[in-house]
Amino acid sequence: MNRIIKITLFAGIIFTLFFLSGCSSEKKGDQVKQVKLNYSTNALEPYISSRTVDLHYSIHYKKYVEKSNQLIEKFGFTGKPVADILRKIKGNEKYSSLFNNLGQALNHDIYFNSLVPEAKPPAGEMLEMINRSFGSYDAFKKEFILKGNSHFASGWVWLVKNNDRLEILTTSNGDNPVTIGLVPVLGIDLWEHSYYLDYENRRSDYMKNVTENLLNWDYAASVCLK
Ligand SMILES: [Fe+2]
Repeated sequence: MNRIIKITLFAGIIFTLFFLSGCSSEKKGDQVKQVKLNYSTNALEPYISSRTVDLHYSIHYKKYVEKSNQLIEKFGFTGKPVADILRKIKGNEKYSSLFNNLGQALNHDIYFNSLVPEAKPPAGEMLEMINRSFGSYDAFKKEFILKGNSHFASGWVWLVKNNDRLEILTTSNGDNPVTIGLVPVLGIDLWEHSYYLDYENRRSDYMKNVTENLLNWDYAASVCLK
């Protein structure tokens, strides 16, 4: 084998090892990923500004996802389903940082799916379930706005599925209804970073505008009716 062939083979081996090592280290941090934003950052205007969506998605949400991946690896939960991890570590001080960040990563996945530009009201089986659970769509909206507005401090307001009925509840900080065995159908962020630039302290206006104009009932139906 002449010298040029040897050098070429050696370079090929080094390149292959480098490439494989790059792939495996990239996969390590990939367990939790940001959900794709299915609309442009200005598509929720005038109810939520482009600046708010951009900061929320590209800074806050991204940080929760990055931190979650670091802590999942640190604590040896790689490959475990997110809901299982949250249920297992809830209330354990040792894992509080992972619980908060991973909960927020999941919450924001649901949040950005729960919003849609030019939202249409619920219809068909979804509407029937709302009527059966709350009496009417208007009654649902009233309770959803009220509970979101009256929740103390940071947290989330949820539409959840509990067996064959829908319920509204709130959680604090990064908690998610999956930790108590409920299915989150829609989730709205009550942390100030989700509305303060646009509404200052008027959370009730944010809740009203989101509920009346941005809820993604196609997404809710895809979770609820499967
Ligand atoms: Fe948020």
